[in-house]
Amino acid sequence: MQPTDLPAVLYVDDDALNLRVFEANFGQRFRIFRCSTPAEALALLEQKRSEIGVVLSDQRMPGMTGVELLERARTLAPDAKRMLVTAYSDMQAVIDAVNRGQVSRYFVKPWDRAEVLAALEDGLKIARLELRIREVEGRMMKAERLATLGQVTAGIAHELMGPVGYLTQNVASLRRDLEGVVQYCSKHLAEDASPEVASVLEDLPSLLQDLATGADHLRQVALGLRAQARGEDMEASADVAEVVSFAVKLARAEVRDRARITTMGEPVRVSFGPVKLCQVLLNLIVNAAQAMEGTGRTGRIDIRWTAGDDDVSLIVADNGCGIPEEIQEKIFQPLFTTKPVGVGTGLGLSICKELVVQAGGSVKLSSVKDQGTEVMLTLQKLPSP
Ligand SMILES: Nc1ncnc2c1ncn2[C@@H]1O[C@H](COP(=O)(O)OP(=O)(O)OP(=O)(O)O)[C@@H](O)[C@H]1O
Ligand SMILES: [Mg+2]
Repeated sequence: MQPTDLPAVLYVDDDALNLRVFEANFGQRFRIFRCSTPAEALALLEQKRSEIGVVLSDQRMPGMTGVELLERARTLAPDAKRMLVTAYSDMQAVIDAVNRGQVSRYFVKPWDRAEVLAALEDGLKIARLELRIREVEGRMMKAERLATLGQVTAGIAHELMGPVGYLTQNVASLRRDLEGVVQYCSKHLAEDASPEVASVLEDLPSLLQDLATGADHLRQVALGLRAQARGEDMEASADVAEVVSFAVKLARAEVRDRARITTMGEPVRVSFGPVKLCQVLLNLIVNAAQAMEGTGRTGRIDIRWTAGDDDVSLIVADNGCGIPEEIQEKIFQPLFTTKPVGVGTGLGLSICKELVVQAGGSVKLSSVKDQGTEVMLTLQKLPSP
């Protein structure tokens, strides 16, 4: 058996015996697809164009000549090397085809095994190299985009620091100033009762507290981004229960009526900064909420965590669309997304994994298509203070 990720040979011949002889000669050396009609070969090429490195065809076949078939193969799989097996009597057609660049090699019947073997090996080697070049090109383009993204991120962090600074300061002075206003209003309320004003006054402290926490979170994210861009490390620890509850609050707008979130777990500290943990949880919650799109069921997002002796397992589970098995390996790669432009950039999970792994933890995914997804983080536990 040949590995399935190596380029294969497509051999086309209307003679069943020739097909068997070809398989017997080269089946051990190469991955081979065999077709007995040009129509079958064209259908296979359409389906497996990226897998085929060499197309080798007999010249005389009913309905279509080998040269005609290879001409069509050129449009379907332009990278595949095209070769022909022919009899002396067809020589003129073959020479024309070689001159037009439609055929790169031809073999005269009865073909010589060593000659065909060498040509197939060369053709497949070139196909493999071309495949590698394309892979490396793709990776370079991705790396370049990521580098640019890093610079842009550092710029954004820098620009955020100013407004976030005065937002934090103003929230602090607002809190101080409002104390006087609240005292004054409370006195007035005793003489002239107003339930609306009383309820606004009651809500003010917690609203301001949320504003202050939000502004601080923004500041920490900006600091974190700047530190990352400079290659610095922000060592810290967090209480899982606190961060989960804050992340759920921040995700409220995104989750809204798509799903109900439940949380379950005891307070426990982990060796992972609160800002980073919040960033990771937000990404997971937003992914879970977005996975409810089109499922037609009431969304559920369960966040639960349990502490072992040395680790804490933190799970974000949803009953959304699930992830097909064939892409599960890819979803942690930077820039991999199945979402339309403007909805996803494909960075969420790659950032999550990087942050968690940097802190000595791990990320595990289990997902069933059309049923739901579970992402489990394992984080280092810290002894309670
Ligand atoms: N809970 C989930 N349910 C179903 N699919 C998911 C879930 N989480 C991630 N995915 C799949 O993994 C892909 C990558 O996720 P990731 O968070 O890295 O990027 P994104 O959500 O597409 O974009 P971004 O997070 O950058 O806005 C998603 O496009 C989606 O196909
Ligand atoms: Mg995401």
